[in-house]
Amino acid sequence: MIFTVAIDGPAAAGKGTISRAVADRFGFARLDTGLLYRAVGVLGGDPIAAAQGLCAQDLERGDLRTLEAGQAASRVAVIPEVRAALVEFQRKFARQSGGAVLDGRDIGTVICPEAEVKLFVTASAEVRAHRRWLEVNTSADAPSLAQVLAEVKERDARDMNRAEAPLRPAEDALLIDTTKMGIDEAVTAACDAVLAELK
Ligand code: C5P
Repeated sequence: MIFTVAIDGPAAAGKGTISRAVADRFGFARLDTGLLYRAVGVLGGDPIAAAQGLCAQDLERGDLRTLEAGQAASRVAVIPEVRAALVEFQRKFARQSGGAVLDGRDIGTVICPEAEVKLFVTASAEVRAHRRWLEVNTSADAPSLAQVLAEVKERDARDMNRAEAPLRPAEDALLIDTTKMGIDEAVTAACDAVLAELK
């Protein structure tokens, strides 16, 4: 069975939690496509060559989840040749048998416009920054909430305003706004959308 769930949205909206829950519930494979851009961003050197030579082990580096890696990712993600080099890997993943969930920024619009289910998960920048701050606020030198909010807004602006594959909902995407919604409710909405298509 080929069945693709495309989940897009800005940083810390809840995409990761929702895509993991959908993958677990339906036994689908899952790809966090942000890791591809994060790996290219932290590898250094020529980002186009890094994207063209990217391999599976690069996605397992321990330094990919930091705020700096997120910023580096969004800077290399504006380069059309970097995006082009990563398309085939993502499409191949989406087409594997048994179903796949991919989350990112352009899955429903560019990578898998024919996905059976498209979700756009969003929340206010303040709520997203607060969530991210709770995750990173584990040491004395952790960034302040204001710094995390500035980082979130900067990354949003870069992702939404770039010429190539900007962050936006696909026309037929189901919008899930997690500003006031609990994560359980959001996961239920996502799973219901998948169930409706599987029937
Ligand atoms: O989702 P995550 O925060 O890991 O993504 C890091 C950055 O990678 C994003 O801010 C965005 O610039 C880029 N990205 C992208 N397209 C994707 C996934 C991530 O441009 N499909």
